Amino acid sequence: MEKVVSGIRPTGNLHLGNYFGAVKSFVKMQDEYESLFFIADWHSLTTSPKPEDIQRSARVILAEYLACGIDPQKAKIYVQSDVKETLELYLFFNMNMYLGELERVTTFKDKARQQPDNVNAGLLTYPTLMAADILQHRAHKVPVGKDQEQNMEMARKCARRFNHIYGVDLFPEPQNFYFNTQAVKVPGLDGSGKMGKSDGNCIYLYEEDAAIRKKVMKAVTDSGPEAPNSVKPDVIENLFTFLRICSDEETYNYFDEKWNDCSIRYGDLKKQIAEDIIKTVTPIRERIMEYRSNTQLLDRIAQEGAEVARASASATLKEVRKIIGFR
Ligand code: TYM
Repeated sequence: MEKVVSGIRPTGNLHLGNYFGAVKSFVKMQDEYESLFFIADWHSLTTSPKPEDIQRSARVILAEYLACGIDPQKAKIYVQSDVKETLELYLFFNMNMYLGELERVTTFKDKARQQPDNVNAGLLTYPTLMAADILQHRAHKVPVGKDQEQNMEMARKCARRFNHIYGVDLFPEPQNFYFNTQAVKVPGLDGSGKMGKSDGNCIYLYEEDAAIRKKVMKAVTDSGPEAPNSVKPDVIENLFTFLRICSDEETYNYFDEKWNDCSIRYGDLKKQIAEDIIKTVTPIRERIMEYRSNTQLLDRIAQEGAEVARASASATLKEVRKIIGFR
């Protein structure tokens, strides 16, 4: 059976970007693949979380994973920092990656611009830690959103390079997995290209109907189409992206026709989007409330997941050490 691995940083609650970019695929894939989904708490250190928040934040994501439909009978869920083997592989991979190629990663360049006083080595080697997360399990598929394409390219490079240097065929090159074959980038409702926690433009899976309606109704629009069949400006394309991911095809086509014949009313479009988001989010929100308080259950699931992940990673590390020349 092929293996799938993916993770999310515990830097806040899950939002629609995380759901449509990643978690929806996790839920689909758990039936067809040997699945490991984790909470990337080491990766979250680049945003300097408070010590007292580390465990709580991991539990938040764990509860939300379960609420989205990840079933611990089918998929294992673990916390990254419970599997120390990852760090050893991270070190080995860092020996094969070059400063220039790490510096060229767009997310590194963005971060370096955002926090010029703290351009640390952890930021620089973020993609090699991610490669270690994936390759320690020799995973074949990685469900991620569009923003992770470059990190995935780096993971494939780590795999190829290790295999090449040592003349082995140990690591498969992990492939990105997309729910509907196309990479998803959920936009922000503020007109920006991406919904992201640090951009403050998210709709969270735990949010109440009224809050969702309020956010959607405030979404940025323009003064309407200027001519029939015109190209949609980015802010309008963003709204249609929501229709594409949350609504059915008929609804999408209905509003697309209205756009094309210039009879579209943005108020109606937004109402439709809000209702379709609510339809997706409501059952998840109800389950989040159930799981959130059951810390005993959450900790037991994480412990079981860690055992499976450690066994999988240590089998790989045993091979890696031998190949490199260690006992
Ligand atoms: P993170 O925590 O930023 O995001 C988690 C997942 O959500 C997806 N995502 C989106 N997809 C579409 N549209 C959006 N607006 C949007 N926002 C977030 C991301 O693409 C991602 O799939 N580096 C990873 C965590 C990680 C990881 C790994 C992932 C660490 N190790 C190994 C896969 C495999 C990250 O920062 O995700």
